[in-house]
This record gives sequence, structure tokens and C-alpha cells, in this order.
Amino acid sequence: MRTVIKGGTVVSASDSFVADVWLEDGKVSALVAPGTQLGAADQTIDATGQYVIPGGIDCHTHMEMPFGGTTASDDFETGTIAAAHGGTTTIVDFAIQSKGSSMRAGLDAWHAKAEGKAAIDYGFHMIMTEATPSTLEEMSAMIREGVTSFKMFMAYPGVFLVDDQQIFRAMLRAGELGGLITMHAEIGLPIDVLVQRALSQGHTAPVYHALTRPEIAEATGTERAIALAEMAKVPVYMVHLSAQRALERVMEARDRGLPAYAETCPQYLFLNEDHLRGEPGNEWKGAGYVATPALRPAHHHEHLWRGLRNYDLQVVATDHCPFCMKDQKELGKNDFSKIPNGMPGVETRLHLLWEGVTQGKISINRFVEITSTAPAKIFGMYGKKGVIAPGADADVVVWDPKRKKTLGVDTLHMRIDYSPFEGHTVPGSPSHVFSRGDLVVQDDKWVGKTKRGRGQFVRRGTFGL
Ligand code: URP
Ligand code: ZN
Ligand code: ZN
Repeated sequence: MRTVIKGGTVVSASDSFVADVWLEDGKVSALVAPGTQLGAADQTIDATGQYVIPGGIDCHTHMEMPFGGTTASDDFETGTIAAAHGGTTTIVDFAIQSKGSSMRAGLDAWHAKAEGKAAIDYGFHMIMTEATPSTLEEMSAMIREGVTSFKMFMAYPGVFLVDDQQIFRAMLRAGELGGLITMHAEIGLPIDVLVQRALSQGHTAPVYHALTRPEIAEATGTERAIALAEMAKVPVYMVHLSAQRALERVMEARDRGLPAYAETCPQYLFLNEDHLRGEPGNEWKGAGYVATPALRPAHHHEHLWRGLRNYDLQVVATDHCPFCMKDQKELGKNDFSKIPNGMPGVETRLHLLWEGVTQGKISINRFVEITSTAPAKIFGMYGKKGVIAPGADADVVVWDPKRKKTLGVDTLHMRIDYSPFEGHTVPGSPSHVFSRGDLVVQDDKWVGKTKRGRGQFVRRGTFGL
């Protein structure tokens, strides 16, 4: 199958230029001056007036994740179909090593969830809930199998939290193997005390999720994670960084030349703590905005945007972890601490960040970098993913800057009964989405010949910056 995408502006992390892009047998085969004839094409797409960008890579998703007494509502089928509609062609999801069990069992379980279901390509990180001699040993097998990054938590006592000694041991081991430790850097033990105190004072509403998880808990966790990584002489990557002071800790480290990296998420760039307050007479609406770290007051937005512009933040991922209001968020109707933590986002990341481009907050090249090229490099996929160049997978999005879209439950494809962005109109959308050369989405409709199970596991290399 030969496809030519004609006359669009190809955008990379560094350049923008008009070219025809040829796709052949699942790969990008050539970029040529507009109109250059390279023989016959089976399919021609006119991209005049549009941008041609590498498919989005969302390196932080939780499909079908058991959490908070329920399970994230998107599975690998619904979640990846939704992702493709939003221009994302690869996800990296989090497999879980359960306490007392092996990473092998966790990885097998996540392969079973994804295989035969995912509609686009996917990789896995491994959540480590303990760093015992056997899990430390197993890290090398994971890396050999292309699971080259590990998430550890300072938060969620009794569920995922690990102590500093375990984090440090895992960092040392990752350093030996070329693996990357990613951190949920909020200090969970004092947060738990604040939660218990708020509940004992009769505070049950969703906004207490934010009021019991202060910014300083994240800043301190971030500083501690960086200190441990510095002692271990390894890189470290902060997931879902949400706030000014945590960002300042990353900036200080980077200014000292340390390999500290961080991602933020659209919810921390566009939503704020007030969303957790719900509406007058309907405080409960705030439950749809319960995610961790909590949404921050709006003044944090400008710091995070600046961090993206200045390369102190490297990636925007989604932390897609959807729970329906009905039956799922409702588990916390009388106790905010029982509201399952997480929000939907895998479909709307590019739409929202494009709005940032149109508002002059980031350049179009930076948009491509933080949504695709940088996650490909950091997580060992660059060359295959994250770039439009001969030999790369033909994961290509034709982005129409004039195609407005109003976000909402009825216009999006994620399996969830609300949208945190309901009614919000964004200024651009994908017109065509290719995954390994297959046109899968056109004009917001799935047009791929196959869907369920066409996605392939991406065996990732080691940390690539
Ligand atoms: O609220 C969130 N973020 N849910 C998913 C788990 C995590 O901490 O990433
Ligand atoms: Zn987390
Ligand atoms: Zn997460």
C-alpha cells in the first residue's frame, strides 16, 4: 500500500516545511519537494493548508486499571480507539507488579489485557510496589522485554507507596541496567493524616481532595526523589507534575546539570481547584475532577506553560484514568477519600495543546516535541516513533488548524459518562490519522479496515536522551 500526503506543512520538533510525505508498507518512505513524482500511489491525501505531524505518543495511561475499589472504565480497545480519534497513535500504559507477586505476573496480565484488543500500538511501564531482591533481579528481564521504565509511588499508603530505601535500591539497579525510574512524587503519609483529620471534622465533599493534598507535599516529594536520584547517579522522571513549587525543584536540579525530567498533563494546564468545588447546590460535580495530584489554583498554569516553553518540562501526557460518575465516582459520595482518583484525557490532549499553540503559549514545533518526539526519546522509541523520517513507522497525523471541535460526552469516544471539558470548543482537530501506514481515522470517523487488535506491542529501548 502506497500513500502520498501532498502539500501539507510537515512539522518536526525543530522545523516546519512544505513537502509531500510518502508512506509505504507501514513506514515513512520519503519526504520530497511538493509535486515530485515517485510513481503511482494507491491513496492520495490533499493536505494543503494543514499540518503533517508525527502521531501523538501518550506515555501515561491506565487502561482497565483496578484502582480505588473499581476499574478504570476504558479498556485497551475503547481507550486506544478514542486515542486515535484525538491523533494519538501510541500509548505507554502502566502494568502493575502487585505486592507479594512478580513483575512477570504483572506484565503477563497487562499483555493479556492489551493483546487482541488495542487498536493502536502500545508499550508498558512497570509499577513497582516493592523493591525486594527478587523484584530488583526481575528488572533486567523486564528491560530485555522492552519494558524499560518503572514507576514508584511516594503516595497512596497501603496501596502503592514504597519507602525511600526501596526507591533508592530500585534507582541503583535501574542505573546498572539503563532503566528509568519515574516517580509519583507526593509524600503520602502526611497527606493521609490530613485526609483523616478532614473526615473526622465532617468534611466529605470532593474539594477536600485538593485541600488535603497541598502543593508542598508534591514539592517535597519532588525534591526527595531528585535527591535520591542524585545519590544514585541516575536520571529521574516526574510523572504528572502539577504545581509551581514542584517545577521549581526540577528547575533547580536541571540548573545544577542533573538529569531530572518531568511531564505535566492537560488538566494541570487548563483546569483548576475551583472545578473540584462543583457548582452551587451541586458540590458533588467536583468528583469528576478528582485526580492525583489534585488540581491547583489557576495561577499555577502560567508557570507550567513557561516550564514547557523553557524545556524544564519535557512532556505532556494525560494520566488517562477514567471513572464514570455513575457507580464509580459515586463510591465516594459520602467520603471524598473514596472517590476513585483519575480523569479521562487520552483523546483530548492534542486538541487542548493545540489551543495553547493558537494562544502563543508554545510554538508548533514545541507542540510536536512535547506530544511525540520527547516521549519517544525519553522512553526509548525514537526513530521508530516520534518523527516523520524515512524508515520510521508511518504514524502520521494530518492536523487541520481550521477544524473546530466542541468537546463533550457526545462528541468524544472515551467510555465515560462525563467530560471535564464539556462544551469547550477547541480550534483544531485531526483530519486524517495513520497508524503504521493504515488510515484509521478520517474526519472523526474510524475508517480503518481493522480495529480491535490491530495495535502492536512496542518493545522499547533504554532511556534515550
Ligand atoms: O489520579 C490519578 N492520577 N490516577 C491514576 C494513578 C496515578 O497516580 O497515576
Ligand atoms: Zn501517579
Ligand atoms: Zn497515572
